[in-house]
Amino acid sequence: MKNRNIVVFASGGGSNFKALHKATLKKEVPARITALISDNPDAGALKYARDNEIPGVVISPGDYDNPMVYTDTLRKILEKESPRLIVLAGYLKKIPDEIVELYKRRIINIHPALLPKYGGKGWYGMRVHRAVIENRDKESGCTVHYVTRDYDEGPIIAQSRVPVRQDDTAESLAARVLKQEHLLYPKVVRFLLSHN
Ligand code: GRF
Repeated sequence: MKNRNIVVFASGGGSNFKALHKATLKKEVPARITALISDNPDAGALKYARDNEIPGVVISPGDYDNPMVYTDTLRKILEKESPRLIVLAGYLKKIPDEIVELYKRRIINIHPALLPKYGGKGWYGMRVHRAVIENRDKESGCTVHYVTRDYDEGPIIAQSRVPVRQDDTAESLAARVLKQEHLLYPKVVRFLLSHN
């Protein structure tokens, strides 16, 4: 039996985490989410994990004086789960370089823009959508990519595009992009599990 363990990292509401979990329940994605890791004890994602009997772990680099101790603790947590894939779903902290190396090409992220546009440190959430509107871009979308040492720089796996309408606000655009994220991320996870 192939290892189909997935660990999800999320800092916020976790709608992508929920979409992925639902896809696993429906067997659209042949995987088991064995843990949800968050840096934020108040994350909606953690509540969802609790309600759905997915073990939740709170760990934040800010709680450690020594970054090496943090990395080591995270490494051990992951080791226990032996994930085939690590899925970042709205996770705002940087994954330590050592972990990125250990799980090379096994950590993926979703970003709410058509990378390489609007990517890198400081580009997240509504900032991205506001910039798209201000720049009068005709289209936007979301990107799933491998995680490397630098924010949003890893090889792109897949993208979904959406039109930007003339009367769009950052909020209406964000909602349209998020809808696509919920479709794209489970598809990519399914693809990676069947091809790796
Ligand atoms: C998404 O827009 C994702 O692209 C970005 O963070 C947001 C997370 O949303 N990385 P949610 O917590 O999954 O609802």
